[in-house]
Amino acid sequence: MSNESLRQRRELAVAPAAYSIHPFYPERAEGSYVWDADSKKYLDWSVGIAVMNIGHSHPKVLKAVESQIEKFQHLCFAVGMNETFITLAEKLNEIAPGSSPKKTFLVNSGAEAVENAVKIARVATGRQSIVAFTHAFHGRTHMALSLTAKAQPYKVGFAPRAAEIYRAQYPYAYRSPWGNNDPQVCATDAIRALKEQVKTTIGETEVAAFLIEPVAGEGGFIPAPGEFLRALRQYCDEIGALWIDDEVQAGIGRTGAYWAVDHYDLEPDIITSAKALSSGFPLSAVIGKAKIMDKLKPGQLGSTFGGNPAGCAAALATLQVIEEEGLLERAQEIGAIALNQLKDLQGKYPQIGDVRGLGAMIGIEFIHGPDKAPNKEVVESVVAHAREDGLILLPTGTYSNVIRLLPPINMTDAELNEGLEKLSNAIEHALEPVTATI
Ligand SMILES: Cc1ncc(COP(=O)(O)O)c(C=O)c1O
Repeated sequence: MSNESLRQRRELAVAPAAYSIHPFYPERAEGSYVWDADSKKYLDWSVGIAVMNIGHSHPKVLKAVESQIEKFQHLCFAVGMNETFITLAEKLNEIAPGSSPKKTFLVNSGAEAVENAVKIARVATGRQSIVAFTHAFHGRTHMALSLTAKAQPYKVGFAPRAAEIYRAQYPYAYRSPWGNNDPQVCATDAIRALKEQVKTTIGETEVAAFLIEPVAGEGGFIPAPGEFLRALRQYCDEIGALWIDDEVQAGIGRTGAYWAVDHYDLEPDIITSAKALSSGFPLSAVIGKAKIMDKLKPGQLGSTFGGNPAGCAAALATLQVIEEEGLLERAQEIGAIALNQLKDLQGKYPQIGDVRGLGAMIGIEFIHGPDKAPNKEVVESVVAHAREDGLILLPTGTYSNVIRLLPPINMTDAELNEGLEKLSNAIEHALEPVTATI
């Protein structure tokens, strides 16, 4: 079967809404590489959108899943809870940030984790309002798309959206709505604006939770300044609201820590996790302070497939691999090397407006000129050229003008160098180096 014949069959059989960024048909994947139906080999720096953090087909993950499914594949926790569910809950409670006792609820996808986090926050506080942020992505189910910021293609056509959702400005320093691009100043401006908005338009006693990504993923790989998250923590405590930390994309080692908020030594009230948690087997988690999770009655939350044994076994093996192979440190190393080289490249090309990141979660934002008009065309060209050259990259961003790097966090130095070389060739191909300032 070739890429072309699969394309033809797809056109007839698959709903066109199931869009693919790359016109290729993966057939096999191992470690940092993927082969398509025409046997072309690619270095994969998308890792299934931040899922295969420890590379494809890690033998320890496959072995753990095999051992589990030899025993049994499914018996819904609402019928009887399997041990892997409990063991994974224990492990997640242990690695969750902060010292408060935690409890965990397992479901299937990132969006489902977010939905459940909102339900928990509303019941636990007896309040309804949820404050989400600009540049946010929280999924595509009804509540999740209502919390997501970007209109196209996520929200348009799907109204009416869920009620009692408010949107505050994300501290996006490079495009600060308050004018000053210094991250610390942006953090101060953002928290001031947030408090003003809550006080004057929502009411402090109405807010059940603030929901925020510590690094806005689909919004453009924008790390929130630590000062902002610290101030948000304080504000939550002052007004009795909860902080839901959406770590679906940034968590599980991607940033060089289990959780992005670990970099700032902060403890959210509820954390959502999915994607890399289970290395490709559908699973997600809501981890919350025990005193919050205990507010819900037995049976108030549920899901047929939630915490399925194969997913839990994969997650336990993934977390073990991260520990045994020192991958938190490796993610930091990979991130530092890549960031350095990309900063050098930025000096050569004025169309690279910003290079930013946390650990191995790096965004390169492209612009047309000093007015910072988003340059989506260059991103499309870089992504296409890199693919031809055997490197899979992903675009991202509210304005689709950011390339996001999601390399496996267990890559070798040779694979890292190969990827950086292909990336820099693709950028060079798309942009003429300009020595004069634009
Ligand atoms: C931060 C964040 N939250 C939630 C989701 C939704 O996850 P899923 O696609 O598994 O529903 C995503 C997916 O990209 C995400 O990046």
